[in-house]
Amino acid sequence: MLKPSSISAANLHRRRQMNAVNPENHPAKLGPRIFADTADIAEIRPLFEAGIINGVTTNPTLLKKAGADSWGSSLSILQEILALLDPYPVSLELTELTEAGMLQQATELASLGQNSVIKVPVGGYQAVNKDYDPFTGLKVLRVLWQQNIQTNATLIFNTTQAFWAANAGATYVSPFLGRLADYCYQNDLPEKTPGNALYMVEDHKNSRDDQHVFNTEYVASGGATKDAGVRLIHEIVTVFANYDIQTEVLAASVRNSVQLSEVLLAGADILTVPAKVLMQVADHPLSSAGMKTFFEDSKAFTS
Ligand code: E4P
Repeated sequence: MLKPSSISAANLHRRRQMNAVNPENHPAKLGPRIFADTADIAEIRPLFEAGIINGVTTNPTLLKKAGADSWGSSLSILQEILALLDPYPVSLELTELTEAGMLQQATELASLGQNSVIKVPVGGYQAVNKDYDPFTGLKVLRVLWQQNIQTNATLIFNTTQAFWAANAGATYVSPFLGRLADYCYQNDLPEKTPGNALYMVEDHKNSRDDQHVFNTEYVASGGATKDAGVRLIHEIVTVFANYDIQTEVLAASVRNSVQLSEVLLAGADILTVPAKVLMQVADHPLSSAGMKTFFEDSKAFTS
């Protein structure tokens, strides 16, 4: 578990260079932004109208869940979300896999609204086709930066990926904290230190080139496995603060409301949260119990 002392003065300095989310006279002027992680307009509308969110992230899986069954129907759903959220950002993910195809698709998605943010997978291209260029995502991010198009580098699981995406000009980076924790739950060997699936903690040298280190020891170990994603966010924020990198760290793949506090302690700039989790943010079992008592006792004043 990260402690409040983990929040660094360097990160506050970095955040002071960035656009404030609230006006000058607002008590949470430099507060984090909260996005809804859904493509379902029926979920987005009440959250946006209540001032709970000021951005949206989508991906092909979320669009499929929202009923999209063709590229055309995806575009209609995205257009509706962009119009509702304008001028707040909405991330739309590229589905093409070659540089030329992605740039063409990015132009199409960027033309849907001035608040479009183009989501670019940072890596994984050779998992789809071994002949693809591993740097496709970084190249696309760089060209879109040159074209002044806002981007969100997605599918980030370590700080190296986050740094390179920022270096390529990404506006946002999206580390997937929930999927990292899921990976530990599924792959950690129980007899070893928590996080062993992410880092070979028994061999600190990692000197052989077949020993791929996917994450630092800090991210992998040092606490309960569920914290690996939160530690990743803290590590990225620290590196960005060290170099005053103003790419925003967007904590993605959130599984529960406890992670929201953890991610804020880790210094995330933005949280993108499923609607189901957002619906719980104003509640706590003791708030419910307290409300019932106060309501009952207030009846004494009504007659
Ligand atoms: C958002 O940008 C991501 O695509 C999303 O948070 C992924 O979440 P998941 O791991 O629950 O699919």
